[in-house]
Amino acid sequence: MARILVLNGPNLARLGEREPELYGLRDLASIEAELRMLAASRGHELFAFQSEEEAALVGEVWKAKRAGTGLILLNPAAFTHTSIALRDALAGSRLPFIEVHLSNPHRREPFRRRSLFSDLALGVVAGFGPASYRLALEAGCAWLEDERTPSRLHR
Ligand code: DQA
Repeated sequence: MARILVLNGPNLARLGEREPELYGLRDLASIEAELRMLAASRGHELFAFQSEEEAALVGEVWKAKRAGTGLILLNPAAFTHTSIALRDALAGSRLPFIEVHLSNPHRREPFRRRSLFSDLALGVVAGFGPASYRLALEAGCAWLEDERTPSRLHR
């Protein structure tokens, strides 16, 4: 059994009302509830945290480290493109994480094409709306359960 953290950055608490054509109609609480159930069905415990603030997200990464977290599903939102502080927390803690996006940043404005996280991530799931989180959790569970997956060998 592993402890899994779903970590969401700014404006993601507004899912459902925020640009639904890009991000879908589901709210964050319902996505988190689905993920919690899915994780439990695989024998894992899932916690969720969202903040508008970089410092709070950095703090949560180090808290997750102390708690023995096995995997983070991370949607840094706008911080994807800007936050060296959050990147440093992920790199410094060495916590394995999957980068998640509801939209496909590569189909959008050029400034969204650069992620400060992708090169550290086990993998990236983007473009499938709320299903991106579910797909990332599926991949994460497979990774947790199988020591021999290539991404683990590369770390
Ligand atoms: C996002 C993509 C980011 O570029 C944007 O700033 C977000 C959401 C996504 O999930 O598609 O807030 O991370």
